[in-house]
Amino acid sequence: MAQVSVTGYTDKPSVVEGETVSFYVTADNATEAQVDIVRLIHGDENPEGPGFIEEVVSSDFSGVKQVKKQFVDLGNAIRVPDSSGKLALTDSLTIATYVYATTPEKGRQVLLGKFSLHETAGYALGIDHAGRLAFWIADGSDTDEIVSQVPMAHHTWYFVAASFDAKSGKAVLHQEAIVNPYNGRLGRVAPFDHLSSVEQSLKLKIKSATTDFMWAAAGNSATVRGAFKDLLFNGKIDRSYVWNRALSLAEIKSQCGQSPIADGLVAGWDTTIGYGENGIDDIVVDVSANQLNGIGVQRPIRAMTGYNWSGKHDDWRVAPQEYGGISFHEDSVVDCQWDVTFSWTIPEGLKSAAYAARIRIGEAEDHIPFFVRAAKPKARILYLFPTSSYLAYANEMIVHHVPVAQAIGSHPAVLTKTEADYFQDPKYGRSTYDHYTDGEGVCYTSWLRPILNMRPKWRSSAIGTTWQFPRDLSATAWLEHQGYDFEVATDHDLMRDGLDLLKNYSVILTGSHPEYWNEFGLNVMEEYISTGGRLMYMGGNGFYWVISYRDGEPEIMEVRKGEAGMRAWQAEPGEYYHATSAERGGIWRNRGRAPQKLTGVGFTTQGFDACHPYFRMPDSYHKSVSWIFDGVEGEKFGDHGLALGGAAGLETERYDLLLGTPPHTKLLGSSTNWSDNYPGVHEDIMFHHPGLLGTQNPAVRADMTYFTAGNNGAVFSTGSIAWTSSLPSFGYENDVSRITKNILDAFSKPGELPGGAWTEDEKSWR
Ligand SMILES: [Fe+2]
Repeated sequence: MAQVSVTGYTDKPSVVEGETVSFYVTADNATEAQVDIVRLIHGDENPEGPGFIEEVVSSDFSGVKQVKKQFVDLGNAIRVPDSSGKLALTDSLTIATYVYATTPEKGRQVLLGKFSLHETAGYALGIDHAGRLAFWIADGSDTDEIVSQVPMAHHTWYFVAASFDAKSGKAVLHQEAIVNPYNGRLGRVAPFDHLSSVEQSLKLKIKSATTDFMWAAAGNSATVRGAFKDLLFNGKIDRSYVWNRALSLAEIKSQCGQSPIADGLVAGWDTTIGYGENGIDDIVVDVSANQLNGIGVQRPIRAMTGYNWSGKHDDWRVAPQEYGGISFHEDSVVDCQWDVTFSWTIPEGLKSAAYAARIRIGEAEDHIPFFVRAAKPKARILYLFPTSSYLAYANEMIVHHVPVAQAIGSHPAVLTKTEADYFQDPKYGRSTYDHYTDGEGVCYTSWLRPILNMRPKWRSSAIGTTWQFPRDLSATAWLEHQGYDFEVATDHDLMRDGLDLLKNYSVILTGSHPEYWNEFGLNVMEEYISTGGRLMYMGGNGFYWVISYRDGEPEIMEVRKGEAGMRAWQAEPGEYYHATSAERGGIWRNRGRAPQKLTGVGFTTQGFDACHPYFRMPDSYHKSVSWIFDGVEGEKFGDHGLALGGAAGLETERYDLLLGTPPHTKLLGSSTNWSDNYPGVHEDIMFHHPGLLGTQNPAVRADMTYFTAGNNGAVFSTGSIAWTSSLPSFGYENDVSRITKNILDAFSKPGELPGGAWTEDEKSWR
């Protein structure tokens, strides 16, 4: 029997009453599904905790809905709208460009052309099945070609061109490498023969294809699926040109590194035009009289080094003329562009919480989450779901692709069926922890696609526990169980509404791993705390990576991993600056903004073999903070939890005055006895030497801290991702729960904080 499956995504991560959320759903081998809106109460199915809990929202929306299979047109391209048909060339022509192929051997790829496979029509400059530069023309029934004498080397810039004289049938194909000490993988001492010039007669005439002129793709079509891109290219393309006449070989050779000959120029795309103070958009500017501007498809990566990168500057803002590179990948997707399957308008008075459309087709089930925030905030407590960090991890598959993944995780990964299927066919794109098929790190992620690991029951096979969203539901379930009146919002609400969102609340609770922050978000959080807000930082490895979103485009996030940090990849030299914000990517610490300055603690170690208890530190007995431990017996706490048995672990943080921990911060608790599966973080290491792992490294620990800020503001930090997963232990009644409750009770009351009378007495504990 054909296998039934269903999944989908929403048009936005959060909504308020009266707003409509739309769902885009695909179903294999089914036409109908039972759909209900459910409130997500708890996710983690670990039997030590409350298990999965949802509550159906009764409404007339529930019922059977029509569903269908929807396809994803994977891959980058640049599409050139051309209503006057200037590029519908059927006579003589010349195409020239600069290309840096990353997988020339992968099979046929189009560089530039108006070429249609299903029509066997058009023309294109490309790379053939043997990795050789090729030029194809097709007449409606057959294809003719001219190919280079030598294959292209990967990660090497070439100037390439083809011309075709329709009268004589003569075609010219030319390639020459542009190798300087910086711009490619190999230097000039590698003795490759990159040069090839071929002349040959072609027998066919060009029949124009109906597909658009595209960079990096050909058009194709199939019966059920409809039109899609094919012959996708991996690598970079720089400035490109089309003429409506056949340039001679001498003319072609004279074009390398030069402005294009004006005679017969139909299009001349200057990929270095368009850089502004906030980056560069998806429009590729044609500087010819025809103004045939191209538009990037699925977000090709711009702000990349070009064929002429001199290595002198690593910032496109300083030398934009050296940053004409645009990077294309066959497996990139930032928007599935599906048809809306159904929509739901949020009824008045619906509780602010995490919800999902629960879709069931027989045994197949999916939850498509979304968040409902308060239209008119009334609660004093806000739980901030870290949607930017959920995006960073969207469809992460490190365990499958990274050779050292099991050494990092210390567990043999037992894949779920969903993971096993998806890892073999990552049709909804990858996470910023992964690499495209050509090995380049993924720097764009978006929510306009199914995110299979942002699901309430998801467990990471690599780690053997939950990650991100399902863990965060343990915090909101705890809030609910304890009877707190709270509301929820997301990073995306914070980035849109700023302090106007946060100032409604006395206390903000973060997610378990709020790792990815843009500058605006950090500024807002800093302002909130310093003007009297209270932050409960309920996680670990937070406030860590620089991210950016283009103005007005909150669905697509950019991250460029730099030369430090615990990172899944590293941007190529010269490509550290974001295309969507002009900022230097990397870790905030290396831009002068270590997390310690905001929260008292910052990333110090990660490991996944076991989690640990904390022990009270001397500061915790000071009268200004001892109230935090009211009701907690003994010195040890957090020796339990749904995440590998402890509250301290997975990714943890440390108090560090040298990195900006406010000097009056109280070190409440810390943990010891870590294994060598927990190494110190990369950004702390200058020299490698014995003793950097958990059994010997004093930086390998989790620190819990507390400090007061101006105007009765305060920050409590758990220093550990696992903390949140310990809240539900023993029916939500445990020491982690008690400490969290003591803090939250104090933070959610207006006015003076407990222990305030003793702040002048801070150094005299005991
Ligand atoms: Fe992380």
